[in-house]
Parts: sequence; structure tokens; C-alpha cells
Amino acid sequence: MRRVAALYQTTVGKKVLMAVSGLILFLFVIGHMLGNLKVFEGPQAFNEYAEFLRTVGYPLVPEYGLLWLIRLVLLGAVGVHVAAAWQLWRRSRTARGSGYRKESNLSFSYASRTMRWGGVLILLFVVYHILHMTTGQAHPDFVYGDVYRNFILGFSNPLVVGFYVLAQAALCAHLYHGVWSMVQTVGASHPKYDRWRRPVAGVFAGGLFVGFIIPPLAVLLGILS
Ligand code: HEM
Repeated sequence: MRRVAALYQTTVGKKVLMAVSGLILFLFVIGHMLGNLKVFEGPQAFNEYAEFLRTVGYPLVPEYGLLWLIRLVLLGAVGVHVAAAWQLWRRSRTARGSGYRKESNLSFSYASRTMRWGGVLILLFVVYHILHMTTGQAHPDFVYGDVYRNFILGFSNPLVVGFYVLAQAALCAHLYHGVWSMVQTVGASHPKYDRWRRPVAGVFAGGLFVGFIIPPLAVLLGILS
């Protein structure tokens, strides 16, 4: 435990924690995007899938047990990710000192600034999204348990779809850089694989963007109803 705490004090330790928590969130996002595509199988299949997510593991574990466990792991991962990012940012600011900044650091600092503001936008999106699709306070026609209906009515509004598309663009830009730097942190940036880092990150980020925005756009265009 002490060694873990000591590792956390180092910059490398914080970066490792960012990579591990980021990976957990990344895996969730992939699973969530694939799950959303089930909406094309129709109301019954989609609602059954949502019900399955709520009750998975029952009766081995209490009815919402696994769901809450997953929620807690995700919440913990978000907390660690944000805290480590905040501390790394403060550390780099102190190290950099004031005023003088090297020319060669400009693109790096542009990327990290984008990551920070992208991260804040993603957090705001997730809060709105839970109020919209899970608890219903931000959904004018919410019916608890009818996830398909909430989906169709929720995405019939072009402004809502526009905001979702914007948020997915921010998420995917964040993931593009995130995947790329996670590979470096876990030490897989061997020159042999280096040229694959950007294309691999691009395929994941691009695939997630397209996979996420297709269902809301399908509702807006009347393909799903
Ligand atoms: C166009 C993009 C998205 C769509 C259409 C979508 C759709 C949905 C739907 C329908 C639910 C409710 C599921 C249910 O109640 O069974 C949900 C829940 C959720 N979504 Fe999304 N989602 C999108 C993007 C995202 C993103 C990018 C994130 C995270 C970065 C995210 C995180 C969550 C979370 C945390 C929940 C709550 C799960 C729970 O605790 O019950 N979603 N989403």
C-alpha cells in the first residue's frame, strides 16, 4: 500500500493511474456504443437489453447489485482520472514557471489544453445525459423502464441531437489523443509500433464517433420511430 502511495506521488505514477482509469472508461464507452446499436433491433429487443443490464447477475447477486458495482467502478475511474489530470496539470504549470515557454512545446500544450477543456465538456455531457436518458429530469416525455420510447422521443429534437453530436466529437477527439498517450505511458511506444499509434487511435476514435451518432441521427431522419 505504501509503495502504491509512493508511486502515486511521482509523475509517472499519476500517468499510469490516468492510463488505467482511462482504459476502464474507454472499455465502457466501446460496450455502450455497441449496446446502443441494439436500438435497430426494435423496441422489445432494446428494452429487454436495458432490463438485462439492470438485472444482470440476479439471483446470484441482488437485483441491481452488479449494475451498482459497475456504476461505482466507473465513478471511481472518473474520480481518479480527473484528480490525476488536475495534479499533473498543476505540476507541469509549476515546473514550467511563468512567462517563458519553448517554441517546441506549443503543439504539446495545445493538445493538453484541448484535453482539459474536452474533458470538462465530456463531464458536463455525462451529467446532462444521465438526467436525460437514465433519471429523466432533462427529458420532457420520460417513462421509467421504456428505454426505447425515451430514446425515440428524446432524439426527435434536432437541438438535442446537435448537442449529442458535438459531445461525441469532443469525446472522440479526447479519446484519439488519450489512446495515443496511453500506449506511450504503458510503454508500448517502441519505434517498431510507433507509426501504428496514430492510425490505431484514429480507427477507434472515428469508429466510436460514427457508432454513437448513427442511432440519434436515424431517429431524427425518421429511420427509427
Ligand atoms: C450518442 C451517444 C449516446 C447515446 C445515444 C446513449 C444512450 C444511452 C441510453 C439510452 C442510456 C439509458 C440506458 C438505460 O437506462 O438502460 C444511457 C445511459 C448511460 N450512458 Fe449513454 N449514450 C450515449 C453516449 C454516452 C457517452 C459518450 C457516455 C460516457 C462518456 C455515456 C454514459 C452513460 C452512462 C454513465 C449511463 C448511465 C448508466 C447507468 O448507470 O444506468 N453515454 N445512454
